[in-house]
Amino acid sequence: MPRRRFIRLVGGGAVLVAAPLTGCSAAYPAAAVRAWQAPGEAADARSWMLAHALLAPNPHNRQPWIADVRRCGEITLVCDSERLLPQTDPFGRQILIGCGAFIELAVMAAAKRGHRVQVKLFPDGEPGPRELPGGRAVARLVVEADASLTRDPLFEQIRRRRTHKEAYDNARALPAALLQSLQTTAAERGLLAATITAAPALTALRKITRDAFETEILTPRTYLESARLMRIGPTEIEQHRDGIPLMGTAARLMSAVGAFDRYEVPQRGSSNYRQTMDRWSAFETGTGYFWIASRVNSRTAQLDSGRAYVRAQLQATAAGVDMHPLSQALQEYPEVSPQLDALRLVLGIDAATTTVQMLARIGYGKVEAGPSPRREIAQLLRA
Ligand SMILES: Cc1cc2nc3c(=O)[nH]c(=O)nc-3n(C[C@H](O)[C@H](O)[C@H](O)COP(=O)(O)O)c2cc1C
Repeated sequence: MPRRRFIRLVGGGAVLVAAPLTGCSAAYPAAAVRAWQAPGEAADARSWMLAHALLAPNPHNRQPWIADVRRCGEITLVCDSERLLPQTDPFGRQILIGCGAFIELAVMAAAKRGHRVQVKLFPDGEPGPRELPGGRAVARLVVEADASLTRDPLFEQIRRRRTHKEAYDNARALPAALLQSLQTTAAERGLLAATITAAPALTALRKITRDAFETEILTPRTYLESARLMRIGPTEIEQHRDGIPLMGTAARLMSAVGAFDRYEVPQRGSSNYRQTMDRWSAFETGTGYFWIASRVNSRTAQLDSGRAYVRAQLQATAAGVDMHPLSQALQEYPEVSPQLDALRLVLGIDAATTTVQMLARIGYGKVEAGPSPRREIAQLLRA
């Protein structure tokens, strides 16, 4: 069999690839996902907490956290100003949701080791509502031994949790008990939440999320923000361990031969536009949506939304159900406001009183999802 082959490009043409497709495994490099292995029991309490907290879901996998451990027995979570998303998340709302998830996992991990955590939010004051939170102390976690503490039953799910971004089954119904517990979890933090499984509403939400994605990719500054975070192939993924990892053979080869320029903003009708929108189709599968909203859009409500979201996702993980946030329609840049209005209408939310904080599709992934890349603890530490 000849060791040369042609790869046909979408949009015409073919590229001669002299090398065989060796090394084209879809798995992420081992070093990029090493953080998902359990830390040794010998780890001190704060390292143990951080080893779990850094696995939190967070927008574009920016991992916007710095852990200041200079005060004995404390971790101060500082929002990393180098890891914001100013175009798609202009006020840092989503970034703070990710920080909330980090706090929740840190607290759960501490409890596992018999440590209570006092969480002091924004110890130096909170950012203004339209101010990016970069550089701010988001929370001070004061860690104290407490042998009487009950363990959190969801702890065991932390390392099993995945944001599953592939196609879901469109027919398999979701367990009623899970749907109820997702809402209860959000309500326990004073948030509003609901799940949606009726076919007409699913159809409406699929259209809104698609339209919002289209808006994002047709708007040069929002598209380019994501493009700069694409990590194509194992070398880039291992180097950065964040962002949007692309391991697909087509993207890697086309990028390698210059046939895919990640910085080319899609234009309606172009092959780049068609391919980008085609990749969205998998995100229109599943049997439900879950949303979380808050009555005030305070910084605390954003952190609470992250804490509630990660607990909900861990509950889904325990039930074998997948969850995948689709945030494009929730974003605050002006071009996407028609989709945000449409979303509020479907969810029955009044913009004057309530803010949608999270929207995620839910269902059963057709194949098992792997863990996503993470940076090492050492890269977060301010010691
Ligand atoms: C506030 C927030 C918004 C998110 N929005 C999206 C989104 O719009 N699309 C998406 O594919 N994933 C979204 N995610 C999921 C992240 O991409 C995911 O958590 C990150 O890549 C890390 O992967 P993991 O959750 O599997 O660890 C979001 C997560 C959070 C916390």
